[in-house]
Amino acid sequence: MTPAQTRIVVIGAAGAIGRCCVAALAVRGASLLLVDRPGSGVDALAAQTAGSTALVTDATSTTGRAGIVAAARALDANALLYAAGVPVFGPLEALDEAQLETSLRVNLMGPLLLTRDLLPVLSAQPEAHVIWLGSTLGRIGIPGFAAYSAGKFGLRGAAEALRREWGDGPVRIHHIAPRAVRTAFNAGPVETYNQATGTASDPPEVVAEAVCAALAEPSGERFLGSPERFAAPLNGFAPGLLDGAFVKHRKALRALGRADPPAAGSAPQPLAGTPATSNRKGDPT
Ligand SMILES: NC(=O)c1ccc[n+]([C@@H]2O[C@H](COP(=O)([O-])OP(=O)(O)OC[C@H]3O[C@@H](n4cnc5c(N)ncnc54)[C@H](OP(=O)(O)O)[C@@H]3O)[C@@H](O)[C@H]2O)c1
Repeated sequence: MTPAQTRIVVIGAAGAIGRCCVAALAVRGASLLLVDRPGSGVDALAAQTAGSTALVTDATSTTGRAGIVAAARALDANALLYAAGVPVFGPLEALDEAQLETSLRVNLMGPLLLTRDLLPVLSAQPEAHVIWLGSTLGRIGIPGFAAYSAGKFGLRGAAEALRREWGDGPVRIHHIAPRAVRTAFNAGPVETYNQATGTASDPPEVVAEAVCAALAEPSGERFLGSPERFAAPLNGFAPGLLDGAFVKHRKALRALGRADPPAAGSAPQPLAGTPATSNRKGDPT
């Protein structure tokens, strides 16, 4: 399918990667339904993007999903890009229950439920594409990202299962897994941690190009960046081989927070500046 033939629902459209994908798709002639939360500026984005309309809603709520399905039906959508996500970072003992629940709801349950609800629309098309943005951390677990990896590992597993479940149907599923991308998603302690560990990063345009390319490809998963695209399958094949490679990550994580394990029964102590569940201006990041 060419981008010009694409009528796509973009979730998290006003996010940093979302905006880049929207621009890349729009310039290639796609029709777009741009979805993001209140206060995201998605209305203004649609006003300046040819061939697009906006829907302001929470894509993880039941009513939000119903609104997206109705708008997708009106668009006669043949593609979904789930580019929403929330950051969650820190030693496990620093994460509270609400952070864990929100991250799993937005990063894992959201794409699963929305894709399920959109299937009647997508599977009525001769060809349709579901594109989920995962992460290298959905194949390689590293210190500080236990909760984030829980969601992204789950997403990758779901994409693999659906690739096989839908193998003879019209709906193709793509799991695109960027390494660190230079967006506010990584503000605050994650940025400090990435600097201390020498984590390489890409501009969001790299992800947008992969999204556009996926529309012409069969179902599959793609890890972006090198050496990550080689390390990811190696970690899947023999994860124990890499267990010793994260000493500096552990040190960097401890340098950000408490070096000592918490006392039994103590409340979570978030890292100063730890990303909560939104990057919105004014929210804690
Ligand atoms: N940046 C990276 O290093 C990186 C690397 C690999 C993968 N990724 C993945 O790429 C995706 C986009 O990341 P990004 O850097 O562009 O982050 P971003 O700028 O924070 O964009 C995410 C967007 O999703 C929106 N969103 C969150 N929950 C939503 C919901 N329930 N309903 C509708 N919209 C919702 C956010 O709104 P709020 O501002 O209200 O939260 C935000 O506009 C995420 O899935 C992320 O996990 C990012």
